[in-house]
Amino acid sequence: MLILAIETSCDDTSVAILDVEGNKNPHFKILSNLVSSQTRIHRKYGGVYPFLAKREHQKNLPIVFEKSLKETKNPKFDLIAVTIGPGLEPCLWVGVNFAKNLAKELKLPIIPINHIEAHILANFLNNTKTLFPAICLIVSGGHTQLILMENIGEYKILGETRDDAAGECFDKVARILGLEYPGGPIIAAKAAMKLKIKNEKLKIKLPRPMINQKNYDFSFSGLKTAVLYDFQSRAQKIRQSKEYIREMAKEVQQAIIDVLISKTLKAAKNYKAKTIILGGGVAANQELRKQFKSKVKILVPETKFCTDNAVMVGIAGYFHWLKREKYDWQKIEANANLRLG
Ligand code: KG4
Ligand code: ZN
Repeated sequence: MLILAIETSCDDTSVAILDVEGNKNPHFKILSNLVSSQTRIHRKYGGVYPFLAKREHQKNLPIVFEKSLKETKNPKFDLIAVTIGPGLEPCLWVGVNFAKNLAKELKLPIIPINHIEAHILANFLNNTKTLFPAICLIVSGGHTQLILMENIGEYKILGETRDDAAGECFDKVARILGLEYPGGPIIAAKAAMKLKIKNEKLKIKLPRPMINQKNYDFSFSGLKTAVLYDFQSRAQKIRQSKEYIREMAKEVQQAIIDVLISKTLKAAKNYKAKTIILGGGVAANQELRKQFKSKVKILVPETKFCTDNAVMVGIAGYFHWLKREKYDWQKIEANANLRLG
């Protein structure tokens, strides 16, 4: 069957066309996977500006859709899957309205998709033999959640961030350091550069917020503030130096990694997890992946399927369709605060 998937929850306009075969062990063939990123537009604001993002989605979605049709030589769809939340409400509506109009016009079934579930199910592109229960760590620009997954479609949120998401922390710290949006990739790149620090005073030690607390919640806003205070306490010449920026990038990345790994392993142990699943933009971080893998076996998507994409939306759509879920296109709405479970 052919699935058309649409994702517009944040600043990436994405359309994917998947050809799916098989039932219990589906094989997903990606016929088209296009992502039109708005990062250059949002760069000057240091983050995503929702109404500008909405306008860009409106402009780009029809273009990306047409391009994906051409790539697939005018396919005959069987199903439409669209992200309805969580995300930026004005942005979500662009994808939702586009999908509803198509569903009506082409008389196709439509499945509303939770963006967080899509990030989890990105791991099922080439893998259907996952053992449950699983502990999922979803780390993106808008969310940081630890989720207990009993099966596909059965989730319980164990904990989440009380303030900023991990990706948001990368983005805000980048802004403090005068680096570009999105912060994650650039901080990772700076952190990976060889350090030649001769000056002992440049050694930075940041806190690992909530790492020893018994719950599964996170807090990254204080970490960002600690970076700001350290930055402000330095002479201008020091804080603009390559060494300082590299040292800070390395330490903030490590602080985030330490907290994420520690809480995830604790949840995995307490819930006797048979699988650990990662997803979301921050899961593209090579150092996080490496340090996780040095401790435990994990499932994590290829980096291009960690950041926002419509392939993961199509995969989620297929699993819901398997359960014979039916939705009336007229009743489908965007929900910025949609929650799993
Ligand atoms: O999942 P995603 O593409 O969009 C949301 O749903 O938010 O995640 C975007 C976030 C941004 O905050 C970005 O800085 C972060 O993921 N990110 C990274 C990396 N690549 C993207 N963070 C750390 N290391 C990376 N390599
Ligand atoms: Zn996302």
